[in-house]
Amino acid sequence: MFRGIAAGAGLRVTGVPVDRDGIRVSGIRSPAVVITPAHQFPMGVTLSSQRRDELVRWAGAHGGLVIEDDYDGEFRFDRRQFGALQALAPDRVVYAGTASKTLAPGMRLAWLVLPRSLVDPVRTQMVRTGWRPPALDQLVFAELLESGAYDKHVRSRRAEYRDRRRRLEEAALPHLAITEQAAGLHVLAMLPPGGPGEAEVIEAAERQSLRLGALGEHWISAGPHPPGLLIGYATPAKHAFGPALEALRVSLGVLDAN
Ligand SMILES: Cc1ncc(COP(=O)(O)O)c(C=O)c1O
Repeated sequence: MFRGIAAGAGLRVTGVPVDRDGIRVSGIRSPAVVITPAHQFPMGVTLSSQRRDELVRWAGAHGGLVIEDDYDGEFRFDRRQFGALQALAPDRVVYAGTASKTLAPGMRLAWLVLPRSLVDPVRTQMVRTGWRPPALDQLVFAELLESGAYDKHVRSRRAEYRDRRRRLEEAALPHLAITEQAAGLHVLAMLPPGGPGEAEVIEAAERQSLRLGALGEHWISAGPHPPGLLIGYATPAKHAFGPALEALRVSLGVLDAN
């Protein structure tokens, strides 16, 4: 999504390697970087505290801009809480939050915390494009926040999603190794080498009316790359989650057939 937006604005997009600690700061070759620190999309790792410090030092030393996309930071399952990177360098970090994961993507409600120097340019751009945040939705959201209902909702969703993730891991386990991830609303499962690839498993899932994501869509560097699946678990309604897991089990059967 970001790549398309940046490229559409005429910017050159380059990739930065990610390892178990998150983005490799020494690999940044651009003046701005987009990160998803709570749960790197799509690999799922959490940005380590050393890397956070390194990134803040990089931004200070190079006059770099960090765009911190906190898209699903509310959903950590290991009780570790991370403050926003933005607080460490408010002049160098743009913080972006969204209600898409906590409430619904269809609400189109999100927010930015901007370095002071970017407030006017962003406001000007919003005026120029004619885009206005929906006032009524914001007022309802403010009421949810003030009344404590939002916190309560996020807490109950977190418990529900933790349970879903455990059930998903159990359902997938005989076939797939799900990489350890302590946050978010999707998991990454690498496919065994030499067997059916991403497209075959995704097709098998489609036959069960289940949509899975392909890791292959997200690589920036030229391949070949190890195949993997992105499996989201927040979308099905409560009553539909069990049947969705069953559909996943059936779809993963294609891995046995080989
Ligand atoms: C990496 C990432 N950032 C942000 C979002 C949320 O985007 P939006 O607020 O436009 O719904 C998503 C949604 O899936 C995402 O995957």
